[in-house]
Amino acid sequence: MSFRSYLEEIKDLAVIKKPVSKKLEASAIINELFDKPVLFEKIKESDFKVAANIFPTKDSIANYFGCKVNELIPTITKAIEGPTKAEVIENAPCQEVEMPEVDLDKIPILFHCENDGGNYISSGVVVAKHPEQGQNLDFHRCMQIAKNKLVVRIVKKRNFDTFLQEQKTMPMAICIGNGANVLVAAATSVEIGQNELEIANTLGPLKVTKAKTFDAIIPAECEFVLEGTISLEEMHDEGPFIDLTETQDVVRQEPVFTVTKITHRKDAIWQALLPGKLEHKILMGMPREPTMFKKVNEAGVKCLDVNVNPGGCSWLHARIKIDKKNEEDGKKAIQGGFEGHKSCKHIFVYDKDIDIYNDEDSEWGMATRFQAERDFVMKDKEKGSSLDPSAEAGTKMTTKCGFDCTAPLETKGKSFGKAVFPKADLKKYLE
Ligand SMILES: Cc1cc2nc3c(=O)[nH]c(=O)nc-3n(C[C@H](O)[C@H](O)[C@H](O)COP(=O)(O)O)c2cc1C
Repeated sequence: MSFRSYLEEIKDLAVIKKPVSKKLEASAIINELFDKPVLFEKIKESDFKVAANIFPTKDSIANYFGCKVNELIPTITKAIEGPTKAEVIENAPCQEVEMPEVDLDKIPILFHCENDGGNYISSGVVVAKHPEQGQNLDFHRCMQIAKNKLVVRIVKKRNFDTFLQEQKTMPMAICIGNGANVLVAAATSVEIGQNELEIANTLGPLKVTKAKTFDAIIPAECEFVLEGTISLEEMHDEGPFIDLTETQDVVRQEPVFTVTKITHRKDAIWQALLPGKLEHKILMGMPREPTMFKKVNEAGVKCLDVNVNPGGCSWLHARIKIDKKNEEDGKKAIQGGFEGHKSCKHIFVYDKDIDIYNDEDSEWGMATRFQAERDFVMKDKEKGSSLDPSAEAGTKMTTKCGFDCTAPLETKGKSFGKAVFPKADLKKYLE
């Protein structure tokens, strides 16, 4: 389902008819609405509409995939392991209109927060092509620095960076206005060369088309496509901007993307995404859950669920629920979890009776079952997430640790289960 068809199906979509500025006003409203999807019909500085908060919860993503929230891990695993070819079409909706002259000022690229370095594209799916390795899809925030130029934040040593370091200058496309199939597929980390559009097609049928200026395949039903060339020869300050941890990221020198062609749908809708907020968190953390789930099982422990939870920035913390059969299962699950998500810093392992989506229940599990001397695992210092403000400045060295919050199998007469009270029908007593 395209982004546009999904928008039409959303029942609780807030529609803002009053003109709203792309500078600070739209982002303020999106933030106030928290997890409610919104459509801005009139943006003061642009002829295009803006939609935001379209996939801010796991429920919204599960709804799009047509599955239940507890089926997301198997659904994403199935797509990663069973990619399928998308239908290739001509005369794609995303290429209906070609802007006569490249002018990023005509597009409602939002200015989100007072200290930001500029207008930022935050929901753009970047399609890059390597002559031998094939295509890569991922996300890169892009700060507008001219009518035809954006500076692109590129985390080192990921697939896109590998492509660029090798080629120095390469064509790329930014596709904006995508359904959850493309967004989630782009957020997965798979083997270099695996075309994430095929993962997207397994998540939900997708139409694709040829890019206009280079030999790449792009989602045909997205809203906008910005094509051009990125080069290590032209660098520029990127930032400040809010990152996933909701803190302000440092300013770095990053490569410039020169846009040479902009195509869009006739009445295209810009997709905005608030940095650090729920939608960003869900898209970052959720694709790591299947990989952690798999590695815990491979470590010989029955994994029941994984929650890369928003309180841990949907990146630095994870809660793992296991069916404990042996005393060492908790520690093995911690090891497996770190294998499945290399940027994770703290892992908490729980028994099957703990609700790992409920903060209070998870804390209760830790309070009543965790003993530091016995259950704490600290790893040797290693390179951690580039996003963690607490990691060593410059090197990003960090100390990862795990908390085995499972109850011992041998209880020695102690009780670990929550007491169950008798039930009462309050209506009978309060009438
Ligand atoms: C909303 C969102 C924004 C992101 N922004 C960036 C970014 O600005 N730069 C970056 O390098 N990675 C960013 N990422 C993470 C990459 O997309 C992620 O590392 C990618 O899935 C890794 O892909 P790869 O394994 O193909 O290299 C972002 C992810 C999401 C979901």
